[in-house]
Amino acid sequence: MLTMNDVLRARRVLARHLPPTPSWSYPLLDEVAGRRLVVKHENAQPTGAFKVRGALNLLACLDEPADGSTDEPVVTYSTGNHARAIAYAAREYGRRATVVMPAAAPELKVRAVEALGATVLRHGRNMADAEALAQTLPGRLVSPGDEPELIAGVATAYLELFERHPGLDTVVVPVGSGTGAAAACLVAAALVPGCRVIGVQSAAAPAAHDSWRAGECVHRDNRTRVDGLATGRGFAGPQAILRERLADFVLVADDAIDEARRLLAGRAGTQAEGAGAAALAAVLARPELMGSAVGVVVTGANATELELAR
Ligand SMILES: Cc1ncc(COP(=O)(O)O)c(C=O)c1O
Repeated sequence: MLTMNDVLRARRVLARHLPPTPSWSYPLLDEVAGRRLVVKHENAQPTGAFKVRGALNLLACLDEPADGSTDEPVVTYSTGNHARAIAYAAREYGRRATVVMPAAAPELKVRAVEALGATVLRHGRNMADAEALAQTLPGRLVSPGDEPELIAGVATAYLELFERHPGLDTVVVPVGSGTGAAAACLVAAALVPGCRVIGVQSAAAPAAHDSWRAGECVHRDNRTRVDGLATGRGFAGPQAILRERLADFVLVADDAIDEARRLLAGRAGTQAEGAGAAALAAVLARPELMGSAVGVVVTGANATELELAR
């Protein structure tokens, strides 16, 4: 059971590695949204995404291997940002990392992971294939979703957001495995209990959304082009927290996410990848669910060249 003590401990760990990220309002964005938005810039992280918080915390908490060596690799599977986060954290802590990425993972994301010194194995059509291979590899397998230390680490983003903006009445969080939204729920419950946490996923990959609505983890087709949100199943750990505390869950079209990326670039001068723009897309698609002061977490910057061209 995760508590705020875990989150506060994670903040102490992260303070050695990362400064807080900024959170600002942009009048031109508020104009299109019809309310005050606070944009939390997780796209300003050194890996371009919030995931680095979880990875740094998780690797700090890993037990030394039983034989006393620090040579045991950490092994994980990911479409991109989790992979890059694990690679970054492994480099910080002097550990080896092996990452299985689906064959279709964006080239730039693969190269970014390799550039941090991790070994990348490209395998399979999707995350399920990548997971199956990762399970056979030697080392400490890190699930991209079902690891409490990942949630405690990413929760530090919400500590920063709510401490700086205690008046937020809604916060919108993009969901893939659900670690970010679960983290938001945990911190909101402790610091700003009146604030509604709303999740958003692509309508073309609704596994987490449908798992939340069904009250059990389900599998769904995954046809989104938004790779940060591209998951085919619910993850039990985050879902348990979301079930207790998430106020609502919105689905948006991939085209609406692209429009939100365009608005963030033009009106806030900031680059978001698809997943990073999903929260703004949800605000624009479902204004009736939003309050008057809304936190919009731009979770990642790492758009591919193709995405940028679009
Ligand atoms: C930029 C970005 N935003 C949001 C998400 C979804 O986060 P989570 O898997 O914690 O739900 C991801 C997942 O990789 C991501 O890369």
